[in-house]
Amino acid sequence: MGSFMSSPKNIIITGASNGIGAALAKKYAGVGITLGLIARNSERLQAIADDCIQQGAQVHLGLLDVSESEIIAKWLLDFDDAHPVDLVIANAGITNSIQADNVETWAGTCQILDINLYGVINTVYPLIRPMQQRQQGQIACMSSLAAYRGMPVTPSYCASKAAVKAYTEALRGALAPDKIKVSVICSGFVKSNLSAAFPGPKLFMLTPEKAAELISAGLAKNKACISFPFPLNIGMQLLALLPDRPATWILSQLKYGANKR
Ligand SMILES: NC(=O)c1ccc[n+]([C@@H]2O[C@H](COP(=O)([O-])OP(=O)(O)OC[C@H]3O[C@@H](n4cnc5c(N)ncnc54)[C@H](OP(=O)(O)O)[C@@H]3O)[C@@H](O)[C@H]2O)c1
Repeated sequence: MGSFMSSPKNIIITGASNGIGAALAKKYAGVGITLGLIARNSERLQAIADDCIQQGAQVHLGLLDVSESEIIAKWLLDFDDAHPVDLVIANAGITNSIQADNVETWAGTCQILDINLYGVINTVYPLIRPMQQRQQGQIACMSSLAAYRGMPVTPSYCASKAAVKAYTEALRGALAPDKIKVSVICSGFVKSNLSAAFPGPKLFMLTPEKAAELISAGLAKNKACISFPFPLNIGMQLLALLPDRPATWILSQLKYGANKR
């Protein structure tokens, strides 16, 4: 069972049309691998699927919005019936930021939580019972180093990622008796459309390929928390230990603070 679990065959990845999810799809693609790739943009998702097929993988596309729980659950269970899922990576996400008046739009706030939080839960929840029945499977949820300490520039993004981190940590303990492996991914900056839209400087930015390499290596080791890069990971953990005033001051010096009013 150890070797089977360290080499997943049937893999679902959400947010596979771009950035980290696309790099993960290509990292896992190969002969004997069946991928379920989910995103909304058909052209971009098809282009990634074509690359994966060229590498020998079988690919099933889910042109779906992860925030639509019933539709996504049906797709996941249909896929799981035909290809019992070894690994699901709930990666799809968006970002948002405060406006000039330091407030996020209400629509943006709701959308972040719908996609980044409920989208993750919608993606993993339907697969828990089938994995329990098989007494095997692996779940990975995409959080962020932004989960460690709320940043004034992106309140709802940080909230969504902190919630995903807590949910995933809890799930790891809850599902351990059923031999289901669960990891949270706390990524730092990775070059993508999302990081381009994220306010402030992109310290220690990695390529999506490097991020995919670190994530797949962490999953192969069943790490509880796959966090990177090292300097920003330590920095965010130390920031979270500081009292509010120095932490807020540091964030504002790094340009992750509020706009002057
Ligand atoms: N890049 C970073 O610096 C960074 C750092 C920490 C954490 N992360 C996290 O890593 C994950 C991937 O981000 P990325 O940087 O790779 O961003 P990206 O290049 O913008 O890709 C995001 C992916 O999510 C998909 N997506 C967005 N909303 C969706 C929805 N409602 N339903 C289905 N798919 C949806 C997008 O596809 P469609 O538009 O085709 O639907 C796209 O494939 C996110 O959860 C992000 O928060 C990123």
